[in-house]
Amino acid sequence: MNTMPPTECKAWSQLATHAESWKSVHLRELFAHDVARSVQFVAQAPGVRLDYSRQRLGAMTLRLLCHLASERGLPEWREALLSGKKVNSTEDRAAWHSALRAGPEAPAEVKEALSRMKDLAGRLRQTRKYRTIVNLGTGGSDLGPRLVADALGDGTLEVRFAANVDPRDLERALEGADPAGTLFVVVSKTFTTQETMANAEAAKRWGGRKFMAVTSNVEAARKFGADEILPMWDWVGGRFSVWSAVGFAAMCAIGVQGFDELLSGAKDIDEHFREAPLEKNVPVLMALAGVWNANFLGAATHAVLPYSNALRLFPSYLQQLEMESNGKRVDREGRLVDYATAPVLWGMEGTVSQHSFHQLLHQGTQIVPVDFIDISSNELLTANARAQADALAFGTDDPALPAHKQYPGNRPSSILLLEGLSPRNLGRLIALYEHKVFVQGVLWNLNSFDQWGVELGKEMARKLLSGR
Ligand code: F6P
Repeated sequence: MNTMPPTECKAWSQLATHAESWKSVHLRELFAHDVARSVQFVAQAPGVRLDYSRQRLGAMTLRLLCHLASERGLPEWREALLSGKKVNSTEDRAAWHSALRAGPEAPAEVKEALSRMKDLAGRLRQTRKYRTIVNLGTGGSDLGPRLVADALGDGTLEVRFAANVDPRDLERALEGADPAGTLFVVVSKTFTTQETMANAEAAKRWGGRKFMAVTSNVEAARKFGADEILPMWDWVGGRFSVWSAVGFAAMCAIGVQGFDELLSGAKDIDEHFREAPLEKNVPVLMALAGVWNANFLGAATHAVLPYSNALRLFPSYLQQLEMESNGKRVDREGRLVDYATAPVLWGMEGTVSQHSFHQLLHQGTQIVPVDFIDISSNELLTANARAQADALAFGTDDPALPAHKQYPGNRPSSILLLEGLSPRNLGRLIALYEHKVFVQGVLWNLNSFDQWGVELGKEMARKLLSGR
C-alpha cells in the first residue's frame, strides 16, 4: 500500500501549479460563462445529492484531485477498510464499522449483539418500566447516540445524556427522574474513562438501581455491578461506534425499526463508497474538495451548517469524527508532515448561525469553506441555505456601494441535499462523513483511527489528582 508522502505525488505538484491559476478566477464569472456548471459539479448518492458547483474548482482540478487519490492508492485502502483489514496500524486493529451495518452479511457476533439490543430496547419501549434512560459516556460513547436521539427521538421514552465530569451535567440529566424508574446505560469502550466512571458512581450514590454497560472491558463492567452487558469490539473506534451497542440509547429513543433504518442508510453509503467511480463518489468528492481547500487554497477551518433544528448537534458530532481522526502531525511512517491536515471544524444550525457568525463568513479576512446541509423540510430553510451559499459565492458586484456594504464573494461552499430527515437518511449522512474522513486520511497519509493526542492530558490530570 502506498505510504509515500502526498507531497511527493506527481498530482500534488501539478495541483500546486494549477492552484496558482485559480487565484484570479471568481465564481461569479465561472457561473456566468459556464451554464453547465450547476449540473456538472453535482453527484448523487442514495438519498443525498452533493452540489459542489460553488467550490473554487474546475474539471481539470477534479481530474488532478482524482489522480492524487489514485496515486495515494485510495481504491486499495478503501478495500482494506471495508474488508476489515488492520488499517489502524499504531493499535494493530481494523476499523470495521461498516461490518456493524452489513445486515445479513454482518459477522455472527454483530448480529447476536444487535438482536439482544433489539430485544432489550423493544421491551423497554413497550413496558415503559423505566421511563427515563440515562446514557453515561463521553466522546464517541456519547456524541453519536446523543445526535440520533436528539434528531429523531419520538418521545416514547425520556432519553437523556451526561458526559461531563462536572456534576452539574448529571444533575441536569436526572432532574425530575426517580431512581426506580431510571435505567442507566454506562457506555465506555475501555470502562476506565474518568468522566464516565465518576458519573456512573455518582448515579449509584443518587440511588440508581438498574445499570447496563456497553463495553469491551467486561471484567470491569462486572466489577462495577452492571446488570446487563452489551459488547463493544476493539475493531470499532469510539467515534465510529454509533452503529453498535453504543447506540443503545439511540435505539431506545427512535425505536428498533428506526435503528434498523439508520443502519440500512449507512449500508447504502458503504455500497456507494465501494462502487461509485471516484469522480462520482460523494464521500470521495467531499474529501477532495476539503483537501483542495485546505492544502491548495489555504483554508484553515471548515464550517458545517445544517439548516435543520433536528441536526443541531451534528457539528459537534463531526468535530470529534474529523478532528480526532485527522488532527495529526505525523504520517503513517511517523514522519512529521509539512502540509496541512484536518482543518478546524465548527458550525451551528442555520438559520440561527446567520445571526451569529455569518458576518465573518461573508466579509471576514479568512476564507471558510462551508457545507450547507438542507433536508428539504421547509421552504424557508431551503431558501435561506441556498441564499447564503449564493451570497458567499457571488457576493456583490456594484462598485458604487460603500466598502462596508460590499461582499467580495468567491467563498467556497457545497450543499448536501437530503430528501427529508428519516433514520435512513441520517444513517446516510453520518456514513458519508465517516468515509470522507477516511479518504482524507488516505490522501494525507494518516492513520485516522488512533487518537494518541488525548493521552498526555489524561495522564497529567491523574498525576495532579494523586498529588504527584
Ligand atoms: O479520550 C478520547 C476517547 O478515547 C475517545 O476516542 C472516545 O470516544 C472517548 O474517549 C471515550 O472512550 P471510552 O468509550 O473508552 O470511555
